[in-house]
Amino acid sequence: MIDILICLCIGYACGCISTGYIVGKANNIDIRNYGSGNAGTTNAIRTLGVKAGAITFLGDAFKALIPILIIRLFLFQNSAMESQLLALYTGLGVILGHNYPFWLHFKGGKGIAATGGVILAFDWRVALVALCGFVIITAVTRYVSLGSLLVSIIFPIGVVLFYRNNPQFLHMLIVSCFFTVSAFYKHNGNIKRLLNGTENKLGQKVDVK
Ligand code: G3P
Repeated sequence: MIDILICLCIGYACGCISTGYIVGKANNIDIRNYGSGNAGTTNAIRTLGVKAGAITFLGDAFKALIPILIIRLFLFQNSAMESQLLALYTGLGVILGHNYPFWLHFKGGKGIAATGGVILAFDWRVALVALCGFVIITAVTRYVSLGSLLVSIIFPIGVVLFYRNNPQFLHMLIVSCFFTVSAFYKHNGNIKRLLNGTENKLGQKVDVK
């Protein structure tokens, strides 16, 4: 239990590093006041361009990937828990920190780039499936939000595909489903827009002047 709490706390601390907000501030704006209001990759592209979006994506993905890899490779070597489970709990902390950073009044992002980092640190095979799903859906529909939601669905499916014979399979499945629930909850507005045909498409810009 203490292992889980430590992983959640380390994850939360790393997740609070809001790359989108920092990149926005470096460009003299609070990104949360523009576009979709989200401190994430898609809104960084929309408001500040591809370079800002790429920096935001990498920062958000690595803030998940790095602590999870450190925890899996160097910490809790004697833990009774599978390192994949510790990865999931650390990742959950990252998503909570990213979505609800205390220093930004709990208004952060939607956690998809960070979820990508979590999945990659969890299992590269699941990450590959998620990446392919994201690229195909986003390229075909031009809706990043749809690709993002698909990534969150692929995560628990990947757990079923690759870990169903693991003794801690059910535990892993339940924790991985939290990423899906969180993504759908944070994309509530996007889902409504998708349903009524008003969702922003990739490539649409906003004027920040
Ligand atoms: O990862 C966030 C993306 O799915 C949607 O972003 O800014 O269009 O709400 P946004």
